[in-house]
Amino acid sequence: MDLNTRYLGLTLRNPMIASASPLTGDVGVIRQLEDAGAAAVVLPSLFAEQIRAEERLTEALINVGAESTPEAGSYFPASIAYNSGPSGYLDLIARARAAVDIPVIASLNGSAEAGWVDYAKLIEDAGASALELNIYRIATDAVTGGEAEADCVSLVGAVRRQIKIPLAVKLHPYFSAFGALARQLDLAGVDGLVLFNRLYQRDIDLVRLGWRSDIALSNPDEIRLGLLWMSALCGQLKRASLAASTGVETADEVIKYLLAGADAVMTTSALLRHGPKHLRSVAADLETWLSARGFASVTSIKGLMRNSHSDKEERERSDYIRSLLSYRGPFVHR
Ligand SMILES: Cc1cc2nc3c(=O)[nH]c(=O)nc-3n(C[C@H](O)[C@H](O)[C@H](O)COP(=O)(O)O)c2cc1C
Repeated sequence: MDLNTRYLGLTLRNPMIASASPLTGDVGVIRQLEDAGAAAVVLPSLFAEQIRAEERLTEALINVGAESTPEAGSYFPASIAYNSGPSGYLDLIARARAAVDIPVIASLNGSAEAGWVDYAKLIEDAGASALELNIYRIATDAVTGGEAEADCVSLVGAVRRQIKIPLAVKLHPYFSAFGALARQLDLAGVDGLVLFNRLYQRDIDLVRLGWRSDIALSNPDEIRLGLLWMSALCGQLKRASLAASTGVETADEVIKYLLAGADAVMTTSALLRHGPKHLRSVAADLETWLSARGFASVTSIKGLMRNSHSDKEERERSDYIRSLLSYRGPFVHR
């Protein structure tokens, strides 16, 4: 069975990638992920806020005695244990590359263009196989949809100019016209889109009357938005390949994303729940499914279920109406 796939211009031995999480910040676990079948790993993100904090500290040390106080990023956690800071991050890249044969994708995480994008070059120099840029911005200020999208394209352009290694962009789905944004990013030279970032909305604790920032892991019901956009974008981009992220628990979700048009499929929650070895059973079940249906390769199912309608918007509307009409339940009589 040929499980190979191409993502970011790289040949992967299968479509499964361990996405960014604390697991991939540990070289020992990265080795276990490779042994269990991961085709690539994405390191935990280095945050723009960390890079800025380090720059401020350096400035403050240079200006000791010059009455300068480093301005603190007041909302930002004081220390981030899992990626060991900007210089430790470059070391993590080098150690991970030396430890495994699979591609090691570094991750930079920010929301607006600034000096931190220069770090992309250091990441390339440290030996990363590719860079994933996670643009995590909740546009609560008075910016228009068009302005928020233009900011994304401009940030991607700034990072693109820094590096020659493949560049992926990980985005949340809440843009007013995601199809147009994806096409603009494609034209701006990205090699892959990761669909989607999960927004980690806080909850309210009614006992303590305070906000709770604990993280809820995903479940397979969450793949549907990704399936919609995979199937709409499959075959529509000139350069960028597509990776699915969110809700991959078993081989079923991997297969569905591939059928919708994904070139690669990422998982984090399932690995946090079951550990790196979980990938073995996912790979085995993927292979069993493919051979049971007479498919000889992963490539042969890619995009089989894409939205190939000439008027994709019309197709989405008719699916929407069909879904509403399909509802049956104990209190609905029709
Ligand atoms: C504990 C935890 C830490 C994460 N850290 C990062 C990170 O540093 N950078 C990033 O881009 N995504 C991060 N993510 C998001 C995951 O990479 C992934 O996109 C998300 O969990 C959806 O995939 P899943 O449904 O397989 O969990 C994190 C997720 C979790 C649960």
